[in-house]
Amino acid sequence: METKSAIVFVTGASGYVGFEIVHQLLEAGYLVRGSARGSKFEGLKKALTRFPNFEAVEIQNVSTADFSDVFKGVEAVIHTAAPVPTRLDKTNTTMKSVVDGYLNVVRQAHKAGVKKLVVTSSITAYPIGGPFGVDDWNSVTEEQAASGNPWFLYGAQKKFGDQAVIEYAKSHPEIDVTIFSPTWIFGPLRPGFHHILTHRDPDGSDKSLTSVAYIYKLLNPANTEFVDPIVVDVRDVAKLHVLAASSTSNVVSSDSSRTESAEKKTKRFAVLAPYLASYKEAVQYIAEAFPELKAQGRLVDSEKAPGYPKELEGKIAGIDWERIRVSLVVENTVVAVSEEGDEDSEGKRFFRTWKETVVDTVRSLLELEKAWETSSEAK
Ligand SMILES: NC(=O)c1ccc[n+]([C@@H]2O[C@H](COP(=O)([O-])OP(=O)(O)OC[C@H]3O[C@@H](n4cnc5c(N)ncnc54)[C@H](OP(=O)(O)O)[C@@H]3O)[C@@H](O)[C@H]2O)c1
Repeated sequence: METKSAIVFVTGASGYVGFEIVHQLLEAGYLVRGSARGSKFEGLKKALTRFPNFEAVEIQNVSTADFSDVFKGVEAVIHTAAPVPTRLDKTNTTMKSVVDGYLNVVRQAHKAGVKKLVVTSSITAYPIGGPFGVDDWNSVTEEQAASGNPWFLYGAQKKFGDQAVIEYAKSHPEIDVTIFSPTWIFGPLRPGFHHILTHRDPDGSDKSLTSVAYIYKLLNPANTEFVDPIVVDVRDVAKLHVLAASSTSNVVSSDSSRTESAEKKTKRFAVLAPYLASYKEAVQYIAEAFPELKAQGRLVDSEKAPGYPKELEGKIAGIDWERIRVSLVVENTVVAVSEEGDEDSEGKRFFRTWKETVVDTVRSLLELEKAWETSSEAK
């Protein structure tokens, strides 16, 4: 594999999504710097020792960190470091804390001469059920964000964070910003994640697995918690981030006069797979692929698992699939998505199927369980 000279920096490299992005960048030949905090810094280093092109960077808080040294020579920054609503910790309990993270990253990236910033936002920044245009936002207010409801807080963190970055990019068109706003992200954890997540959450919440916890819950027959199955695979989300970071197009900076048409080209995309998923199917896929789990009585009863949420069909019908699937891809590089390996038996297809997502996620969770067991036996 050819090593590229460009350095890409990934914040939140020890997170579920960040770890996948780092892997895809390394596999594409980039030099990668990735940040982590606390004990996860050492875990990240351990997890990626086999990649000489990776450098782990320790930061305590993305909102206040000094990136001036580590952004030197960096071509693109991918900013994933932010909480999910189930993992709000003391650094992320306010709207401002996360918006400050966005601003700290974009300001310091711009100052360091970084050309591209790719941000992982969330579909919650849009109105529930759409529309999903560049200027469509949820209606969450700052007061609601302060009400103690984690979903309001998350929606506000993402909305106001995105808006702050877009505003910054408008007055600093030298930095090209792309924002991806995915739905629930499922898909496998990369091997080696056990170095980062060294044990199961003692309270059994599995919140450290972020969204993947909702697939893990399918391996618990007592589970009754199912989130809306509007999903996208982590590998596809990461692929989009890598495409955006490596794109040669620079929509924002190509028009420094900031005309109306340039404004319209703000690269903010809702990201979701173009199908409705169901947990009933998911349990059936798991039972077929892992008959031992069924035999051990570990699966949710597929009769009790929710089927297609009919009421959601209309809600996602307004999404412009073509814009999401094609515009970024065509704008950046068609070749990258039609390369061998990105196709399946049905031909060229960008998004993975629900079956692939579910089966690969469960396989990775079983490997993680095994690693946890082995390390606890070794103690
Ligand atoms: N998972 C989903 O379904 C989903 C869907 C849509 C959007 N997203 C977005 O994707 C991004 C990554 O989510 P994820 O699922 O990968 O969650 P994750 O595994 O918890 O990853 C988040 C990463 O950000 C780090 N982080 C959080 N706050 C930080 C702070 N103040 N300073 C420094 N680092 C901080 C975390 O570090 P620690 O582990 O040390 O806390 C972790 O490495 C988030 O922006 C999230 O909003 C996720």
